Parts: sequence; structure tokens; C-alpha cells
Amino acid sequence: MIPACRRVLIPAVLKVCLMRSVWLVLICLSPLFFPGVLCFSELFFIKEPHDVTVMRKDPVILDCQAHGEAPIAVKWLKNGVKVAESDRVYLLSNGSLFISEVESRRGDKSDEGFYQCLAQNKYGAILSQKARLTIAVISPFTIQPTSIVVTEGSVARFTCKITAIPPPIITWELNRVTLPLATERFTVLPSGVLQIHGVEEKDAGNYRCVATNIASRRRSTEATLTVTPGKPRIIAGPHNITVSLHQSAILECMATGNPRPIISWSRADHKSIDVFNTKVLGSGNLMISDVKPQHAGVYICRATTPGTRNYTIAVANITVQAPPSFVEWPESLTRPRAGTARFVCQAEGVPTPHITWLKNGERIHSNGRIKMYNRLNNEKCITFISKRPEM
Ligand SMILES: *[C@@H]1O[C@H](CO)[C@@H](O)[C@H](O)[C@H]1NC(C)=O
Ligand SMILES: *[C@@H]1O[C@H](CO)[C@@H](O)[C@H](O)[C@H]1NC(C)=O
Ligand SMILES: *[C@@H]1O[C@H](CO)[C@@H](O)[C@H](O)[C@H]1NC(C)=O
Ligand SMILES: *[C@@H]1O[C@H](CO)[C@@H](O)[C@H](O)[C@H]1NC(C)=O
Repeated sequence: MIPACRRVLIPAVLKVCLMRSVWLVLICLSPLFFPGVLCFSELFFIKEPHDVTVMRKDPVILDCQAHGEAPIAVKWLKNGVKVAESDRVYLLSNGSLFISEVESRRGDKSDEGFYQCLAQNKYGAILSQKARLTIAVISPFTIQPTSIVVTEGSVARFTCKITAIPPPIITWELNRVTLPLATERFTVLPSGVLQIHGVEEKDAGNYRCVATNIASRRRSTEATLTVTPGKPRIIAGPHNITVSLHQSAILECMATGNPRPIISWSRADHKSIDVFNTKVLGSGNLMISDVKPQHAGVYICRATTPGTRNYTIAVANITVQAPPSFVEWPESLTRPRAGTARFVCQAEGVPTPHITWLKNGERIHSNGRIKMYNRLNNEKCITFISKRPEM
């Protein structure tokens, strides 16, 4: 410990701030070299009082121990005023202050405050650091959790608020059993908030918070969490698919919910689903065998909670590939030299067929004389062979 000069309240005439050890020894052993200098050891604290939080009616000792030339007198100050000894508060022979039953009543009767000890010998006096004595308390809840109703799968939140010294540890109980905090769905914030994610039916019940510190433990009122069944959830819905004629198509639909949802299928264009070629696999998957062009369309899977109008849908498009087929095709023509010949070709299919022209087995390309048109912007293709200059 390094002696602190600033604590010397009543400076001795020969106040010397020394590093104990060498200089002190030199001064003490060599009065001849320093005539007129008195030898004294400086007063300093070995132990000073520290902040303390105690419960009401508990005993407490505030320590104070000074080193220096005897005799050393120790006094105690509370908020700067000398502590009056009583049957509860007294100075121990070793300098510590003893309070047998800490009193928390408001006003002057309270033992709460800032304590310091004052040590004095014939050379001067030193004052210790301030130590705060606080009485632990836990006041009634200012916010209590309130009952809530949430749908399954959503979130729930409870709060409680309390003032306490020292700050309380807050835990939560479900039906009077402390919640295990080791689950990802439950989050407890030290500020007194309980968050529940992905609420499940089993989370329903009575919740309360418990605040604990050294003073006491308080339990909040109970709040009820009611979980109502949510809308069904489609876990796996159908995918957009492209199928060739005569193949089969499978549209998956799997839903979960409480109670178990019912799955039904419909077409977005309100046409009825061909019952002859379709069957249901399991509880809700649709299989269409021997796919025909009329099976193409947008299909809707609907999962409905029985007895309610709550439902969830998933939608997918079936595209049926159809090989190209001619609607119109070229006919033989006879034309005068330099006249214009026109061949027509129209084809259907899914996806839309691409048309190419061949002459004697070889592909024809557009040029100045040969033009190819896509008439009416669709499958129709007309080729003109225009008048050509004489060769
Ligand atoms: C002073 O005495 C009390 C009671 O005997 C003891 O509890 C306390 O620790 C002592 N203080 C020091 C600084 O030794
Ligand atoms: C489901 O339907 C019931 C009864 O029709 C209704 O009370 C409830 O609020 C609905 N739930 C949802 C999530 O729509
Ligand atoms: C199916 O295709 C439509 C567009 O045609 C798209 O909006 C939809 O998201 C697709 N659905 C799936 C399940 O991929
Ligand atoms: C379904 O798919 C076909 C072919 O890909 C497409 O032409 C049609 O627009 C799609 N329908 C919807 C509603 O997405």
C-alpha cells in the first residue's frame, strides 16, 4: 500500500511524505544528519470499509484498520457525521464498526448511507474511502404478465417488471414448474421478458415470473396462454410440371394442422378434374395417368381444417407436351415463269412447333426472292416465292 498524502487532514508540522522503507529508515537511524527532524511512521490504512448490500435485520461489520504510531483512535462517520453508538451500533476494539441488526426504516433511523472511518494519532488524521451500505429490497411487481390467446405456430410474449436491490434474477414457471431454458423456442431476457416462438399446443398453460435476490423472492400473478389451432400448413405442395402425352403426372400435397386438415383438389379454370384417369395417393396426392392435352391446366390443392372455413392453398401448373401436327400443309402448284408461288403451312403442338421449309430435301433460307412469314403471329407460316428476274 502506498501512503496517500491527500488523506492527511491535520498536517503535522513536520509532515513528510515518504516512501516507507529506505528513507524512513535513514531518517530514523540518522538523527545526526537531520537535526531537528522527529522520527515518526506515517499513518495509513491497512483495511478500509467497502460497499456492502445486506438484508434488513442482518448484522454487518465495516472494517477499518490503520497502521502508524500508537495510540491510534478510530472514529466512524456516516454521511459525514459522527456515528452515534447505540445498543445496535458500536465500535469494536479493532476499529471495525458493528451493526447488529441493520435497520431500513426511512429517514434518520435507516442505517443506509456512506460510511468512512477516521484514524488519528498524535501526528495527524486520515479519512478512509466512502463505503456504501445498502439494504437489499425487492418491491412488489410493477408489471405483471397478462393472459393472451395466440394461434398455433405464432409467437407469444410475457413481461414482468420489478424493482430490486441488488438486481433480481428472473425465471419463469409454466404451471408452477420452472421452465427449462435450454430450448430454442423460449427466450428469457434478464429485463423480465419471456418470448416463445413457434407456439405449440403443449405450451398452453399458466405462466408466472419469479424474481429472486438476496433479500427475497417474489412470484408474479399467473397469466394464461391459450393456443388456438392455426390455419393448416402445406408442408409439400405441388410443383409446376411438364409431361408428355400418355405419361403420368403426380401432384404432391401434404398438409399439417390441428385437427388434421382435409385435402381437396380443383382446377383454377373451374373445369372438373377428370375422375377416370386420376387417383389419390395417400391422403392428398393427385396422380393423373395417361395424360391427355385436356389435363393441362392450373391445379389447386386446398387444405381445410375440418368444420371451419380455414384453409391454405398451393397451386401448380401442368403443361402437357403435344407433338406437332399439321393443320394446313402445302399443296402442289403450277405457276407461270416469273409468277409468285405461295405455300402455306400451319402446325400445332405444345410447346409451339418451329417450322422449317425444305426443297428437294434441303433447307430453304429467306433471301431476296424467298420470304417466309409467320401470319397472324401464330403457328401459320406462309412462304412466298416471288417473281424473279430472268436468268
Ligand atoms: C475486527 O473484529 C471483528 C470481530 O472480532 C472481526 O469480524 C473483524 O474481521 C475484525 N476486523 C479486522 C480488520 O480484523
Ligand atoms: C379458424 O376457424 C375458426 C372457426 O371458424 C375461427 O374461430 C378461427 O379464428 C379460425 N382461425 C384462423 C387462424 O383463421
Ligand atoms: C409455377 O409457375 C408460375 C408461373 O407460371 C409461378 O408463378 C409459380 O411460382 C410456379 N410454382 C411453383 C410451385 O414453382
Ligand atoms: C402454365 O404453363 C404454360 C406452359 O408453360 C403457360 O403457357 C401458362 O401460362 C401457365 N399458366 C399459368 C397460370 O402459369
